[in-house]
Amino acid sequence: MKKFKAFISNLVLLTLSVNLVAAPAAKSNFTKGEDSSFLCTKIDEDKKSIKYEQKMDGFSSVTIVTGKKSTKRNPITVDLSEFSNQEISITISGDIKITDKDNESYDVIWFINDVDANLPELSRTEVKSEKWTHFMGEKILVIGEGKSLILSPAGMPVEDMTFALKNFEVKIQTESSMTSKNEKWLTATPLKEAYKDYFTFGFAVEYKGEFNNIDCQDGLIRHVDSITLGNDFKPDFLFAWQKPTAKLTEYTDSTGKTIQVPALLPKFNDMDKILGLALMNNLKIRGHVLVWHSQTPLWFFKEGYSLDKNAPYVDRDTMTARQEWYIKSVLEYVDNWEKSHKVKDHIVYCWDVVNEAARDGATDSRWLREDSDWFRVYGDETFIVNAFRFANKYAPKDVLLAYNDYGTYSGANMDKGGKTNAVLKIIDAIQACPDARIDVMGMQSHVGINNPAVSGTNSYEQALQKFTAKGLDIHVTEFDMAIGSNKYSPIFMKSRYKDFFEMFLRNRKTEDKHGISCVTIWGLTDARTWLDAQKENKGYKQHPVLFEGNDYKCKPAFYGVLEAAENASK
Ligand code: GLA
Repeated sequence: MKKFKAFISNLVLLTLSVNLVAAPAAKSNFTKGEDSSFLCTKIDEDKKSIKYEQKMDGFSSVTIVTGKKSTKRNPITVDLSEFSNQEISITISGDIKITDKDNESYDVIWFINDVDANLPELSRTEVKSEKWTHFMGEKILVIGEGKSLILSPAGMPVEDMTFALKNFEVKIQTESSMTSKNEKWLTATPLKEAYKDYFTFGFAVEYKGEFNNIDCQDGLIRHVDSITLGNDFKPDFLFAWQKPTAKLTEYTDSTGKTIQVPALLPKFNDMDKILGLALMNNLKIRGHVLVWHSQTPLWFFKEGYSLDKNAPYVDRDTMTARQEWYIKSVLEYVDNWEKSHKVKDHIVYCWDVVNEAARDGATDSRWLREDSDWFRVYGDETFIVNAFRFANKYAPKDVLLAYNDYGTYSGANMDKGGKTNAVLKIIDAIQACPDARIDVMGMQSHVGINNPAVSGTNSYEQALQKFTAKGLDIHVTEFDMAIGSNKYSPIFMKSRYKDFFEMFLRNRKTEDKHGISCVTIWGLTDARTWLDAQKENKGYKQHPVLFEGNDYKCKPAFYGVLEAAENASK
């Protein structure tokens, strides 16, 4: 209210005439648009030509005369009462100009007279006499009782002025208008179609309960070209939680060093089934992950594959031979499977070779994660470079090799230190080795809903551009959005999803520049998300992905992702 009072109290005399391109008044200002949103394109016909005077006599009188009628204040308003107490996304747009003066310019604002919310402003536009000026504004907010959207000159025009307005449109979406089609993923617009000109779309899935379920396969085929197995290709899973000591055999590495390795490991039973299903359903797989400090058994690092957690770690050379054996076993297995099934292109088209080796809050001298058995054996980056050497040696040349990490945009604007620089050092080390190859930077992107990485600091884009400057393409590998302890607002989440995808689209790979070539959402439905089990979210249900429930109902966020693609194609 403060702003409005100040505006009124400063006014001596203001006459404002407004010519509207208007049509017959409806009871409600709003009609249902094609997409179920609420649309208002006309303002009350009585206000086609409005003349009003605001006479200030001390603080006392405000009179507004509209045609024959006399009313108080604000001749141009859109009544929002029908949305009282609901959360809405409101978008306004139109063109405006001053018609009765030359060389004049004046700021006008659209705001909502919501006292509690401090008169939220949707747009502030400098309007000129000579030309139509486009205005546009967007807000998400809960509307109080009986509120209106109001057009007003900002501050105090010293002279009378006439404004003309055309192409006026207010669009309002509520959660129910966004999801009124009640679509499930099996009937909704396929994401991969919407994104086919831009980048590969992917989902992370589990094998058991998801990918091995035929309905789920139908949804995957409909929406994505690529899947990532959330767990099934990780060392713990391929080692099948076996004790390795049962039977050992000899392995001679590429330097001629001979070591003992578990004879019956890795096991590829589920991998066979997964590759088979992918082949049948024409889906590609991002292989995740070969080298990681987590979900890898401790015995892999211990002398004699001891199950005693206090047993000594092996020396570096032995670990390097073990690493080569593991990477070779997995990559050759997949390659042979593909060859024996006469797969034309590869099913596994990319591997996350190393995951999460950079340090949180890195400094220039300590930039590697130290709470890692890999680091405990080596104490430096050798195991990372070796992993990319071995991957390059044993993967087909046209299979992409990626380094993958989280929070990769943290400290993106710093010259030294911070996670982005730690990742850049890792990339440099790999690229400095002639036998190693890296093609892709995997930005996991488990973002928080209030993450400033997109708006505000734009650190995400800065980091991304630093990675592409190294000659790498980007895969967004594990996108999801936590709300933490915030209240879940489906509409706000939609807008954040849209922001992120607009940013991904801006930075997509094109023929002449490196950029994002694949985006994977980490999970299918809010009903099952790893984020619920995180201790910082205890007691707060998370809603991080595009569908909800066990019937995969489309959330507003889903439509946010589609809208981002639609806008990119305009
Ligand atoms: C990391 C890993 C993923 C997965 C998620 C949590 O981001 O890279 O494999 O474990 O954590 O689900």
